Formats: sequence, structure tokens, C-alpha cells
Amino acid sequence: MTAMANHPLRDDATTQQPSSTKPPGPCSVVIFGAGGDLTKRLLVPALYNLAHTGLIPEKFVLIGADIAKRSADDWKNSLHKTLESFIGDPNAEDQIKKIDENTWSKFAGHLSYVQGDFTDAAFYQALKQELESLESQHGTGGNRLFYLAVADRFFGTIVEHLGEAGLVHEKDDAAIDAPWCRVVIEKPFGHSYASAQALNTQILGILKERQIYRIDHFLGKETVQNIMALRFGNGMFEPIWNRDRIDHVQITVAETVGVEGRGKFYEQTGALRDMVPNHVFQLLAMVTIEPPIGFKPEAIRDKKYELFAAIETLTETDAVRGQYGPGTVAGKQVIGYRDEPDVAKDSAIETYVAMRLKINNWRWAGVPFYIRTGKHMPQRMSEIAIRFKKAPLAAFQGTSLDTMPPNWLVLRIQPDEGISLQFEVKRPGQAMRLAPVKMDFRYRDWFAPEPNVGYETLLYDCMIGDQTLFQRADMVEETWRVVQQVLDRWAATKPSDFPNYASGSPGPDAADRLLSDDDAGRRWRDVALPKTGGRS
Ligand code: BG6
Repeated sequence: MTAMANHPLRDDATTQQPSSTKPPGPCSVVIFGAGGDLTKRLLVPALYNLAHTGLIPEKFVLIGADIAKRSADDWKNSLHKTLESFIGDPNAEDQIKKIDENTWSKFAGHLSYVQGDFTDAAFYQALKQELESLESQHGTGGNRLFYLAVADRFFGTIVEHLGEAGLVHEKDDAAIDAPWCRVVIEKPFGHSYASAQALNTQILGILKERQIYRIDHFLGKETVQNIMALRFGNGMFEPIWNRDRIDHVQITVAETVGVEGRGKFYEQTGALRDMVPNHVFQLLAMVTIEPPIGFKPEAIRDKKYELFAAIETLTETDAVRGQYGPGTVAGKQVIGYRDEPDVAKDSAIETYVAMRLKINNWRWAGVPFYIRTGKHMPQRMSEIAIRFKKAPLAAFQGTSLDTMPPNWLVLRIQPDEGISLQFEVKRPGQAMRLAPVKMDFRYRDWFAPEPNVGYETLLYDCMIGDQTLFQRADMVEETWRVVQQVLDRWAATKPSDFPNYASGSPGPDAADRLLSDDDAGRRWRDVALPKTGGRS
């Protein structure tokens, strides 16, 4: 994440990529899991988009590695087909109008494929041979990025094999021009506090922390990165960004999709593990960290670590789990979770979770943070809603404090990306009567949309060696520490009321009590997109 002074006012706002952004230096990228969905639908399209904007190094190699026997040409063709399938599909990962065949053929000229079994040492010898030969052919100077787009059970094994094969050795001093070797590790990073610690120990036995890029794709979203710009690029928000002025915060990550054929994975994971210690906590951190002393990776990561360390360990009373039954989502009849393929008929796995968090630091003591995430919700909608304290006194006749709507600052993460502020104005007329209105910033009104799958910045950052948006070992461990007690309790006690929310509803009733127990008038915001120009 490169910090740049770019002050777009409307005229030049459509130029999203500041001209000073340079392509990374020479490097080779190896993707483990070349045949997987992540590679086809997100990683390679993101690299292609980078190539299209001139942000792929001139000296570049991309090797796909996987168990399937196939030729490099076959791999390239399947990648091209996936890109083609995006054209004209409004629901596709990438909104491209056409493939720029010049860019593609230049990009594809740098692609190769190595077949093998990731648990077999012989594979790493074959990979080494191919890598070294392409490195000398393309002059990538020994800079290597290994992307582990594979099931998490392979993470430790692959890193160990890479170490044994001498593929990730960096000189201790990491002099500016010394070749670098980096490893990107996808989620989930562990399944528990203990397994995350164990994985850290295992990989840190081979790699240095500066070589490890633990990725969370939520940080690739523009709207998530924007939270730092909003908070620290403006003088007006920070003075009110604390327990003195904020009543509470609600973070919602609602999805309309169900488990989408991932029953096997989901039965082992559940909504809490899948979404909370990673994606939801990243959103939480962006709104709550202290101002960093500079826009340097370690300065920001230190603040994030401190924030996670200040979150009180959750207990069962702060958490509610839910599982969807049959219902209607977006006008379509859908089945309940227990009827999904590869799901047990009496499954106790949660597809929804709501929690109340406390952050024990000077800024946030006493401010509750309510978070929720679920599948088969009424609307796909992720937002961070900050509710400010009410005016201290009802100054106008006939208005009681209880009936005055609160001020909300809502950061809309997706879709309909933007920010809105709700406040009171005088309703036109002779009497002094108040009405809530909204000021709305929409990304699409100010910036031209560009093809983007959300991995471009993250991949670019890996290539330039910027770890700002990646998780450090201590951060990941703290996030698991926060949720571990709840995970243990839930594993030990089968819920008697599952399924407890209908598909298409906003979640189980018990989740409402997390808020109303704190304050009788407090409730979740609607899981709905804002109406343009109207009242909420
Ligand atoms: C993934 C989860 O990490 O994030 C999925 O495994 C979830 O279950 C997805 O649907 C949500 O990401 P996005 O970017 O589609 O909101």
C-alpha cells in the first residue's frame, strides 16, 4: 500500500492510478494451486489487470504449480477462458468489457506450468530446475514470490519443502539489491489459537517474518483501505472518534449466498472461524486503531497488534450463533443449511454469528462494538456504522431526547461503496421541527470504475515488499485468542434451536438481545441497501 499525496477534486478524480506508481522490480511468481478457483478467478485476473495498467515487471515469470498433469499451454488457455467468461457477466469477479489480446499474449508469454505433488520432495527439485532456467531466461534476478493458494493443510508442508530445496533462502542482511524470497499464505491461518501458534512456529523456523505475507483479501478492498484515508487524511474525524462522542459501533458483513457447494469445508469451519478473526476483525481494526506514527508497515502493524491485544477475550454470553433454515433469498426459494450437500442432517455448525466486543484501551473503554456476519441474509451488504451520542439536551419544543434520531456515520464497504452521514435539520415550515437527512458520498459518483478483482493492490504490494496490509504472526495469534473460548464452548454444546433463522431473514432473535440488554432502545440496523436520496 503505497502512500501518495494525491488530492483528486472532481476534475482529475477519474485518474485512479497516480502516474508515479511504478512497476515492481524483476521477479518470478509461483502459484501453488494453479488449477484452483482462487487462481483462475482472482489471482490471474488481478495479475492481468496489473499487466494492463503497466504494473507487472518487464522481467517477469509466472509458474503455475499443481497436481494435475497438463501443459503450460493448456493452463494458459483455461485462464484465458475464465477471463472470457467474465465479459458481460454483471456478477463476474471482474467487470471487463473485453480482453486486451496484446496485453494477454505478452503476459502469457511469461507463463509456465510445473506438475507435481506438494508433499513430495521430488516436485521441489523439478520446480527449482524450471525456476532457475526461467530466471536466467527472463533475468528475474532470483527474486521469488511463492503464493500458497492451496488448502491450509499444505501451508506448513510447502514452506518446509521450499526451505529444504533451498528455494526461499534470503541473506541475513537483506541488502537492498540482494534477491528476495517471499511466501504468501492464504486464509485460514490456523483453526484455533493453538494451531495458529503452531503454524507460526513451523514457518518461522524456515522464513523470517519479513518474508511472510499472511493475506486477508478484505484488505484488498478499496473501501477498507479508505478507512485509513478517512480517519488520518482529515482533521475533522479524529477529535470525535472516541468514547466521548461515540455511543456504539455496528459492523455487519451480510451475504445472500449460502455455503455454495462448500459444505465439507464449512462443516469444519463455520461462520465464526470463516469470517470473524480475519475479515471482520480487519474491519474493526481499521476503525479503531490509534493513529500510526507514520505510514510505514511496521508502524501500522504495531498499532493493529496493540488493538487486537486490547480486545477482551469473548465469553459465550457475548456471542450468538445461528443456522439458516429454508426460506426465500432475493425472491428465490432456498434450502436450509442441513439440506446442503455434504452437510450433516443434525449439523451444529453456525452460518451466522453476532458478538459484542469490548476494547480495553483509553479510547474505547465503555464503547460496545457489535459485529455480525451471516449467510442467506436478506441483502449482500457490508458496512461499519458508527453511532454518535445524542445531543445532551432537547432544545426544541415538542422534541424529546428519546425521539430524536441519532447521528450515524456509515462506511459502506460493499456494494454501493461510499460513506453517509445522517444528521438532523429543520423541516421546512413555520414550526421548528426536526427531520433526519443524509449526506452521501458514493465512489461511483467520483471515480471511474476500473477492472479490479480486489487482489491487485495486495499482489502489487507483495512484489514491492510492502507488508502494511498483511498480518504479522502476533496479530493473527491475538485474533484467535479473542474468539477461542467461544469456539471451545460451542464445540462442547449442541444448540437445541438450530435452524434458528429463516433464509432471507436478518438472523436469529437472540442476536437482538446482545444490543437491547445493553440499552433497551438499541437495535441492529436493517440489512438493506440505502434508498437513494431518501430517509433511512
Ligand atoms: C471468504 C469466505 O474468505 O470470504 C467466504 O471463506 C465468504 O465464506 C467470502 O463468502 C466473502 O468475501 P467477499 O469478498 O465476497 O465479500
